[in-house]
Amino acid sequence: MQIPRDFIELLLAKIDLVEFIGQQVPLRKKSGSNYFARCPFHNEKSASFSVSQPKQFYYCFGCGAHGNAIDFLMQNDRLSFPEAIIALARHAGMEVPHEANNKSKKQDSLPALYELMSSVTQYYYDQMRKSPRAIQYLKQRGISGAIAKQFHLGYAPTGWSHVFDEFGKTEEDKKKLFDTGIIIKKDSGGFYDRFRDRIMFPIHDYRGRIIGFGGRILDQGEPKYLNSPETPLFQKGHELYGLHQTLKANRQINRILIVEGYMDVIALFQHGITYAVATLGTATSSHHIERLFRYTHEIVFCFDGDKAGRTAAWRALEVMFPLMQDSLQVKFLFLPEGEDPDTLIRKIGKDHFEKSMNQALTLSAFFLQTIAKQNDLATMEGRAAFAAETLRYIKQLPAGVFQGILLDEVGKRARIDISEWKANLTMGKTPDVILEKSLPEQKHQLKLPKALEIVLMLIVQKPALAVLIDEPIQPSHLPGLSFLAALIAIVRTKPDISTAMLREHFRDQKEESFIARLAGQEHMIPDDGMENEFLGAIRQLKALNLDELINQLLAKATQDNLTEEEKINLTNAINQKKSLTATQHSSSNQ
Ligand code: CTP
Ligand code: MN
Repeated sequence: MQIPRDFIELLLAKIDLVEFIGQQVPLRKKSGSNYFARCPFHNEKSASFSVSQPKQFYYCFGCGAHGNAIDFLMQNDRLSFPEAIIALARHAGMEVPHEANNKSKKQDSLPALYELMSSVTQYYYDQMRKSPRAIQYLKQRGISGAIAKQFHLGYAPTGWSHVFDEFGKTEEDKKKLFDTGIIIKKDSGGFYDRFRDRIMFPIHDYRGRIIGFGGRILDQGEPKYLNSPETPLFQKGHELYGLHQTLKANRQINRILIVEGYMDVIALFQHGITYAVATLGTATSSHHIERLFRYTHEIVFCFDGDKAGRTAAWRALEVMFPLMQDSLQVKFLFLPEGEDPDTLIRKIGKDHFEKSMNQALTLSAFFLQTIAKQNDLATMEGRAAFAAETLRYIKQLPAGVFQGILLDEVGKRARIDISEWKANLTMGKTPDVILEKSLPEQKHQLKLPKALEIVLMLIVQKPALAVLIDEPIQPSHLPGLSFLAALIAIVRTKPDISTAMLREHFRDQKEESFIARLAGQEHMIPDDGMENEFLGAIRQLKALNLDELINQLLAKATQDNLTEEEKINLTNAINQKKSLTATQHSSSNQ
């Protein structure tokens, strides 16, 4: 998907990073224009995560996490780049131009759709109180009033157009109802309510906005559950029922339990397991998993103990493998035949249920057990097949300790020497190297002359300074000079560019992490002293650069003859250096 750069810049200009991050991380103003918080990307007691208003850039002095609003969404919500743009655009009430081209009709504004969803939820909620039948249903299923309230459970009354009549008064309203999937278009024209005579389960996104509904029939009937269709607000494959409530109920989440159904989540919460989520009628996807691992290090999958449950569990395992970092724990809990979490928790209670989670099969145990069952490890052929099959999966694990241990275990059970496999698998990537990659990036940087580093840092932090450079700096072999030239060129065309936008220019380029380091550096220069500091550093840089140029030309002169042009350049450089040193001595004494 190609998103115009102009749009991205517009978007970054419109979002205020402090406000945006502040909605999810409690920020406190500490020094000047910087806000601080405990870093959402690593565990810490002190607040080393900083967000700068003028730079529109965040940086963690502890773990090195950094970036603009787009990076924050990519890291915090584990979104891809285009997903982050779309999410950010939604937040800003803007439309991604690429999307607009595909849709001829005028778009509703998303805030208006969220508002409608919330009004309709309230409506269903009020209807519940008026329906003894619905209340009776919840009672009979053992749902307490408090938990019904916590999950905003409601009731869609019998009849074809209650919601439509209530909320579809104007053409615009009708369109909104239709676009959120609350009403359905008739072939003959006109509309009718999608949800009729159903218990309504509002589906929240992680931030608590209502994005869809599930509706359960009260008696027998098909379909038992009816869900909202995919809408601009609702993508089934991404969302998790109960995640919002889980985040709300826990400051720190030690583990998250993934179950199948709405009623399972609710019953678990009611009985004290306040960390359960359900996928919405879809299989667990890597989107789901990546999102959950943002909040916790342990995921427990809950499945039926029957054959269908085992098959579903294996599918989940396949999704998990490429995502298994060493710090993560994944377990599989198989329930007794005929039980789902809803029925089981009511029978055995929280403590027992948690105990069975503690004893659940680990990912590795389930993995090895399943493949071992398919092969006869008493025979050589069986052991070979076992090893080959396991290796096929182990290859997909990220290199690390877990991969190594699992491989060792396979070697033991198959009674083969796996050292060569191990060498092939990691291809020189030892866990140490991987560890280092996640450390702050300082180590990997090129050493630059101090003056140049200051110039670069100041430009990255306050791009407008670059326009103060009146004459071009002559190209030399000084490291980092071409990068400076690139920065200056960008700021020349966009004098009011922010740090966040500048960072965006270098996305996926080799300078990316260098920019981040420069942006995150803390300097003690007061705001009104920046210009002077910058000009001073530029003068020093020019002097350094002239030295470099002079040395370069002199070195060449000793080897072969300089061209006429080079000779002139050398003379010029020497003269410039002289006058520069003279002004420097007269103008400042630093
Ligand atoms: N589901 C669905 N559509 C259906 C049936 C099920 O979307 N026709 C989804 C729902 O999210 C449901 C989950 O699959 O919550 C599990 O379905 P099922 O096991 O049939 O229902 P339970 O959660 O046990 O629901 P209940 O206890 O209300 O019968
Ligand atoms: Mn059930």
